[in-house]
Parts: sequence; C-alpha cells; structure tokens
Amino acid sequence: MLKVKPVAVDRLPALLQLMPKAELHMHIEGSLEPELMFALAQRNGVAMAYEDVEALRRAYVFDDLQSFLDIYHAGTLVLRTEQDFYDMAHAYLARAAADHVVHTELFFDTQTHTGHGVSVEVVINGLHRACVDAQAEFGMSASLILCFLRHLSEEAAFECLEQVLPLRDKLVGVGLASSEMGHPPEKFARVFARCRALGLRLVAHAGEEGPPAYIWSALDVLKVERIDHGVQAMKDSALMARLVKDRIPLTVCPLSNLKLRVVSNLAQHNLGQLLQAGIVATVNSDDPSYFGGYINQNFTETFAALALTAQDAYQLAHNSFEASFIDEAQKRAFQDRLASTFETFQ
Ligand code: ADE
Ligand code: ZN
Repeated sequence: MLKVKPVAVDRLPALLQLMPKAELHMHIEGSLEPELMFALAQRNGVAMAYEDVEALRRAYVFDDLQSFLDIYHAGTLVLRTEQDFYDMAHAYLARAAADHVVHTELFFDTQTHTGHGVSVEVVINGLHRACVDAQAEFGMSASLILCFLRHLSEEAAFECLEQVLPLRDKLVGVGLASSEMGHPPEKFARVFARCRALGLRLVAHAGEEGPPAYIWSALDVLKVERIDHGVQAMKDSALMARLVKDRIPLTVCPLSNLKLRVVSNLAQHNLGQLLQAGIVATVNSDDPSYFGGYINQNFTETFAALALTAQDAYQLAHNSFEASFIDEAQKRAFQDRLASTFETFQ
C-alpha cells in the first residue's frame, strides 16, 4: 500500500475531489433531483403532491429508514418511459463524473415500477443505455445491480427475477434493499441461490438499522460478496474478524446514516474505526438527492467531522476499486491512476 505524504487540512477537500474513485452504493431512484422530478411529472401528466421544488425539498426530513422509503417511493411515480429512466441515470452519471467517479455500479429495482404499470424492459433498457453512453461521454464505466425489495415476499422476488431474465446480460448482479427490520436476509435464501447459479454477483443491505445477525446471514445464507452499509458490524467482534479475514467490503454511506438517524452526528460515525480495524470500507452516497450530497460531499463532510487523513482517503478510494465487480486488470489500472494522483498532488 502506498505510503501517502501528509496533506494540509485545507488542501484535503481538493484531493478528495480529484482522486479517482468508484461508487458502489447508489440507488438511481434516489438520485432523482426535485427539479427533474417536477419536469418528468409535467412531461408525463403526473400530479405532484407538493407545490414546488422548495416545498418538496422541505419535506426531506426523516426519522428513520421507513420514513424515507415512503417519500422515496412517492417520488418514483413520475418515472413512466424509457427516456425518463435514461434522463435520470444520465443526470447522475454526469454529476458523478464531475466528482471523479471513474466506475459505478448502480442500484435500481423493478418491483417499484412494475407495481406502477411500468415494464421491466422500460426500466432496464433506459438505465442500460445511459450506462453505455457514459463511457463515450464521460470516460466512465457503469453497470447495473437489480435490488429485490425485502418488504415483499420471496415469491415476488422470484417473479421479478423471471421477468428480468431475458435482460440478464444488462445486469452485473443483484442486491437486497428496502425496509430492513423484520425482513432478514434468509427470507431470500432460495432466490439468491438461483441468482448465484446464474452467475450474477451478489450484495445485500445489512446492518444499516438491523443487527449483526443480519450481516452474518447475508454472508452465510445468501453468500453475498459485499455488505451494503454494515455499520452495525462493530457490535460483534467475531463478525468484525470475519469481515477482515475474508476482505468483505462494506459500502458505507455516512450522510445517509446521518439523515436516517443511524448516527446522531457525523463525529459519531464509525468509518474511521472501521478503517482502523482493517475493514475494506468504501464511501458512497446511497440516495444523494434526498440525503444532502453526492459522493464528494460524503467524503468532505465525513473527513472534516472525523479528522481523517490523506492516507485514509487513499485507502478508501483503493478499497472502492478492490470492492468493485470490474476485472482484476481494470482494478489495477484504476489503482495505478489513484497512486499517481496522490504522488503528483501539490
Ligand atoms: N433503498 C434506497 N435507499 C435505501 C437504504 N438506505 N436502505 C435500504 N433500502 C434503500
Ligand atoms: Zn442503500
């Protein structure tokens, strides 16, 4: 691992901005900014429950994950056509490229949209076209991870999988999202086993609000390769040892944890402790339109609150490539670019 030369605190935000990085935990529906939401509502003749963009933004105050999911779900009602999904993803990819994200793996779900009468083809073809165009337009790679909604049944997840199978080549993997408490990973054991057999990469949200036991079962029952959030792992030292030993990455989302009251302030966030413990932690934005910041905002606010260093920045960006589902040669190429950014930074 590169030994990074110290960087003055006032220069750290510039380095955090400039360093190449991968974003691995971002729900594309959670990147839909109020301005685009209103524009799509108008384009599709969908009524909005809020008077204007400012009134909608004022409603973005949450008590917990469920209170967020309710408002997030309402926002998805404006998405009707393939072009809507393209426009939403294109807007995120442009924003991420400005933050020097060079690779991203986007979460999306189809169950929300099929529940509104929108087909899986409309969703996936629109998102996939935006991912393909990102390479030429932004020099950035992007792939798609389908999240099953865990508050729905395993049968519904199987139905969802059957619908998307003809489009399987447009997906890199599957994940598990939505209301965590009361919906343990093992509820989806069989559908994840089937996805594994299909060669899909596996991730799951676990230990965001839920207990360490959910992280154990995501690993041992679902056999996931990454844990989304996972910040509750620190309550269980045997689990921490397992995550370190097997180099299981955690995709941590500090501003999300703050806005959903997983932590009461960023100074209490355990990102620094996770890194110190040797966990392959990464920084991500989760639902940036709702939580007050894209990936670099997550980096800069968390670094300021926890007094993290340039060495930590390097580690987090290095981890983001290690944790990604790109091939090994591409990982090395991104990590070399990262090292040269740090070596030449003034
Ligand atoms: N869907 C969108 N954001 C989520 C989160 N933070 N946790 C679970 N499901 C989500
Ligand atoms: Zn998430």
